[in-house]
Amino acid sequence: MPDPTILTIRRPDDWHVHLRDGAMLAAVVGHTARQFARAIVMPNLSPPVTSTAMAAAYRERIIAALPEGSDFTPLMTCYLTDASDPDDLRRGFAQGVYTAAKLYPAHATTNSAHGVTDVANIRGALEAMQAIGMPLLVHGEVTTPEIDVFDREAVFIDRVLAPLVEAMPALKVVFEHITTAQAVAFVDGAGPNVAATITPQHLHLNRNALFAGGLRPHAYCLPVVKREEHRLALRRAATSGSAKYFLGTDTAPHAQSAKETDCGCAGIFNAPFALESYAAVFDEEGALDRFEAFASENGPRFYGLPLNQGTVTLERGATAVPAKIMVGGTTLVPFHFGETLGWRLR
Ligand code: NCD
Ligand code: ZN
Repeated sequence: MPDPTILTIRRPDDWHVHLRDGAMLAAVVGHTARQFARAIVMPNLSPPVTSTAMAAAYRERIIAALPEGSDFTPLMTCYLTDASDPDDLRRGFAQGVYTAAKLYPAHATTNSAHGVTDVANIRGALEAMQAIGMPLLVHGEVTTPEIDVFDREAVFIDRVLAPLVEAMPALKVVFEHITTAQAVAFVDGAGPNVAATITPQHLHLNRNALFAGGLRPHAYCLPVVKREEHRLALRRAATSGSAKYFLGTDTAPHAQSAKETDCGCAGIFNAPFALESYAAVFDEEGALDRFEAFASENGPRFYGLPLNQGTVTLERGATAVPAKIMVGGTTLVPFHFGETLGWRLR
């Protein structure tokens, strides 16, 4: 691969975003819409998006909050609970309101108190989804207090995900924001209906980042970043050319004051420089020729959606990431704050 100074790829999508609601939505949606044509919008609002009617109303609020002239398309998801109604899933998917449904194990992460307490409770919902080809998006962590926080994903694979995939072999599953070598091995070894998203932070950071010179709240997200060997496994997976891996930033804005406090929120706001961040990884791995598949092709093919028309261009050049991004009266600290990235989105 020659060393290009310009990288033009088909317009990409982001298969995992938190756009929030209200003033925060209005402040952050433009960052995602500037970089991506479409995004899978996570349903963990408070209260969560648990019905077709709620998802349709949320979609309207997102579209109303878009910057003038934006053609960004939000792809909506249903938040699964123990009480999820298979008929609502079928209806919402048939109507084109829902693109997928999200499984949050109860109490695994931000606004997941209403999540599923046992996958046995959503068996009917999952059977309906398998029958209609509706993807299940999985936050893959057990929440049992005796399991070490760094082991939650690996234990989830053994206890929940592997048995689920075996029991429902035709269910489309996206293992979201994978963080471990065990997750890569599981996805690689599973059938073509099992895929995974990978975030920029899990490609850039290992768990030392949480404690680099002091406690670092802006490196804290869930699932938490892991050891170096896991980061390297994720880099190999993302840049391998396998169609099972695609871009999902998990951009998760929380006000600076909610991150820098005695019990700081999990989530990294990476939307403003997401493509630049991923491009740096593919560049470092000598895999810029594989970036387009990861960013723009593997996701839509897995979801059965058309590839985007049009292109975006990244060029080599110093991009200084600001220390803060002001949104209305709220301050957000972006991923890579204070760093300089080597790519710039035109
Ligand atoms: C997400 C959030 O803040 O909504 N936080 C995070 O650390 N990723 C929730 C999630 O995706 O786990
Ligand atoms: Zn998320």
